[in-house]
Amino acid sequence: MKRLVVLTGAGMSAESGLRTFREMGGLWEEYDVYEVASPGGWARDRSLVLRFYNDRRKQLLETSPNKGHLALVEMEKDFDVQIITQNVDDLHERAGSKNVMHLHGELRKSRSTVDPGLVYEIEGWELKEGDLCEKGSQLRPHVVWFGEAVPAIEQAAELVSRAEILVIIGTSMNVYPAAGLINHVPYTSPIYVIDPNEVSVPGFSRINVIREKAGTGVYELIKILSHD
Ligand code: OAD
Repeated sequence: MKRLVVLTGAGMSAESGLRTFREMGGLWEEYDVYEVASPGGWARDRSLVLRFYNDRRKQLLETSPNKGHLALVEMEKDFDVQIITQNVDDLHERAGSKNVMHLHGELRKSRSTVDPGLVYEIEGWELKEGDLCEKGSQLRPHVVWFGEAVPAIEQAAELVSRAEILVIIGTSMNVYPAAGLINHVPYTSPIYVIDPNEVSVPGFSRINVIREKAGTGVYELIKILSHD
């Protein structure tokens, strides 16, 4: 089976009712993104940050995977599918995808503020002040904030470097280092982009664009690949 690597972003979950980042214009619901998703914001007002992520978590528990997520699961019948997602939601997993790597962390997990190796599942939606890791420090959301390193990036680059087909779905390719992953794809591997809007990927002429939402676009891709 061919190795198909899929890089997903916020647009993948849009049809599940989760808004994309660019739509929000710097505001995430009523919050300034940089105040709630940065180490500085955490230092200034940790209860605000916890409240913000608790709200996101509540919202996530009320949503379900959409047709696009499910279509990617279907592709596992014919391809060795590896998903690399920038999303912190768990909709790929809930849809049933087997191989999902999270570049920017996971909303339903917390981690220690003294030992990044200590990561825990969050029961339900709430992470509170006073919730501690086993070493006694406050737990924080297990997400990558602006200005923080992306620990999984090298492993992701390695996966892309072995892709026989690369599929990019619902990401504006604006945020690095994730956007740079495309540079690791072998020259001989085709690239497909599924997005209802124009996405600029400088320097690549061999991109096949499917200008559709994820729910329709992944089925379109399945049709195209079945003719190859
Ligand atoms: P963006 O909000 O930048 O881009 C969303 C993309 O999804 C855009 O290109 C839209 O055109 C497209 N889109 C919208 N609706 C869609 C649909 N139904 N189907 C398919 N595509 C659709 O989101 P990301 O590129 O994921 O980082 O943002 C990357 C990172 O920026 C995020 O992971 C986050 C943010 O800052 C961190 O939190 C570290």
